[in-house]
Amino acid sequence: MRYNFDKVVDRVGTNSIKWDFMDRFISKDSSCIPLWIADMDFECAKPIVDAIEKRAKHLVFGYSDKPDSYYESVVKWMKKRHNWDITKESICVTPGIVKALSFIVQTYTDKGDGVIIQTPVYGPFTKVVENNGRVVYDNRLKYENNRYTIDFEDLEKKAKNPSVKLMILCSPHNPISRVWTKEELTRIGQICIDNNVMVVSDEIHSDIIYKGHKHTPFASISEEFANNCIVCSAPSKTFNIAGLETSNIIIYNEKIRKEYLKTLDRMGIKGHNPFGIVATEAAYNEAEDWVEQVIDYLEENVKFVETFLEEKIPNIKLVKPEGTFLLWLDFTSLGLDGSELKSFLEKEAKIALDQGVNFGKAGIGFARLNIGCSRKTIELALARLEKAINKK
Ligand SMILES: Cc1ncc(COP(=O)(O)O)c(C=O)c1O
Repeated sequence: MRYNFDKVVDRVGTNSIKWDFMDRFISKDSSCIPLWIADMDFECAKPIVDAIEKRAKHLVFGYSDKPDSYYESVVKWMKKRHNWDITKESICVTPGIVKALSFIVQTYTDKGDGVIIQTPVYGPFTKVVENNGRVVYDNRLKYENNRYTIDFEDLEKKAKNPSVKLMILCSPHNPISRVWTKEELTRIGQICIDNNVMVVSDEIHSDIIYKGHKHTPFASISEEFANNCIVCSAPSKTFNIAGLETSNIIIYNEKIRKEYLKTLDRMGIKGHNPFGIVATEAAYNEAEDWVEQVIDYLEENVKFVETFLEEKIPNIKLVKPEGTFLLWLDFTSLGLDGSELKSFLEKEAKIALDQGVNFGKAGIGFARLNIGCSRKTIELALARLEKAINKK
């Protein structure tokens, strides 16, 4: 079926963090257009809604668990979408990837150990390391000519440090929206293997990939890589069902998997929310057309933002995305520090973006724009931004 992503959905009053609780996290000014936290304002695919409705109509919501068909839907999706062969046994269902990352840090490292991340990167990567008493080793991404690349020399240096045990890789990378190539991933993986560093590849954004780019599941590169990594995947970003908190942590190596499952047990994680189960199955089995259409719409949104900035506010630069629904905007030419930029965007432009500093110091002077909304909303937001810039 054809979906209409131009439809502006009123999310106010639905307990949405983005719309109803913006004041708790980002801006007290409710007149700001919320273009922050990474969920989309689009209604989700009909098969998912039908599956949830059917389950809701049963009227009994007792403890539930995943049937075989759940695992089969994940296996089929990975094969069809990424040509990646996984087994049902390798899937460890966890209620959310950030929780999984925290469990992983607790399971495979000790207090004081080092964990490599690559800033600017999704803020909770730093938190799950530091809040668990581990130490961040920042392999900061290189930014040249509006494009980010990996500093492999620095990565090698950091991986050689004997206290470094883990690397949390963001693939594709939020917020800079690079879809790492197979060659880049292979270099990362080899450096980590050579230095006994296990890789956690967070692939939550792997299904929204733009034309000309291809996502490579880290574990699909070789048997050796599969044996030295954990892949975090989920239908949450792909199908806009993050609130259902269903993620699939894929661990090929049996020994590594057993340790993770022990942690889930220790944390009291068992069974699963009944809506997450049916929604995931419906999404993976029946809603790929929605994903294809949403990607087309997002690519048009990217073009719209790109043209608008080039023609009307050329001193704000877009870091060209290769996937995801998140755009990384370079405001450095405005010469504002982090808090001045925040104040400018919220008080003068009246738009709520995620501030660059939330992704590490490397993000200062940047902000992240969520384009998972109607083009009309983006148009309105950019017009506000243009007006505020012209007043400066
Ligand atoms: C890279 C990355 N990992 C994890 C998450 C959040 O995952 P979850 O909601 O399953 O904890 C996000 C959300 O934006 C993300 O961008």
